[in-house]
Amino acid sequence: MNFLITAGPTRERIDPVRYLSNFSSGKMGYAIAEAAKKMGNNVVLITGPVTIEKPKDITVISVESANEMYLETVKFYSNADIIIMTAAVADYTPVNVSNSKVKKQDDNLNLELKRTKDILFEIGKIKSKNQILVGFAAETNNVSEYAKSKLINKNCDWVVANQVGLEGTGFGAEDNKVTLFAKNGEKFDLPVKNKKELAFDILNLILHL
Ligand code: CTP
Repeated sequence: MNFLITAGPTRERIDPVRYLSNFSSGKMGYAIAEAAKKMGNNVVLITGPVTIEKPKDITVISVESANEMYLETVKFYSNADIIIMTAAVADYTPVNVSNSKVKKQDDNLNLELKRTKDILFEIGKIKSKNQILVGFAAETNNVSEYAKSKLINKNCDWVVANQVGLEGTGFGAEDNKVTLFAKNGEKFDLPVKNKKELAFDILNLILHL
């Protein structure tokens, strides 16, 4: 099967030396891409800037901003049987990007931000019935409630929810603890595991149900 996976953070430029971003390491997305490849699938990985090594035998498209990730995803999505969006995409980007370094002033600085495209939402609107769309939900609180609403609002077949802000799991960590929510209402709590092993468990559930 053909997999399309988004991973990592995005960077939203403020000026030539500064950007807005988040703590996503890309580890979960890269682990899923590698697991899908090892299971014999074709994989396209669209990745924001991360420090992990690019996987071999996988088509890797490197992007920087949410808009670039959106454009590449739209380019590749129609060929995919399974689309998994693990990327921590910035929800906002600066309205104005300065061509020169912004100089400090005595007063506070207000940065005006505008919404980026919600890639998962946009793909949810246009995907075909045969395509499986999997979203991730990184939450600090009310994990199941938010995950279930993302499942419906973004027209996903699955949402993989994880609690972030806890010690030892989530953003940047080696391990993760996730709960999968399926469109049919089923819920699967997976035990804490190394992200590389967890990737196989997530794919096995999605592929076999
Ligand atoms: N996502 C996306 N494009 C965005 C924002 C999020 O594709 N601009 C995707 C992520 O890749 C993930 C899912 O949406 O699969 C959930 O992302 P998350 O940041 O947890 O939630 P948001 O949709 O941004 O909602 P909120 O800020 O309300 O939590």
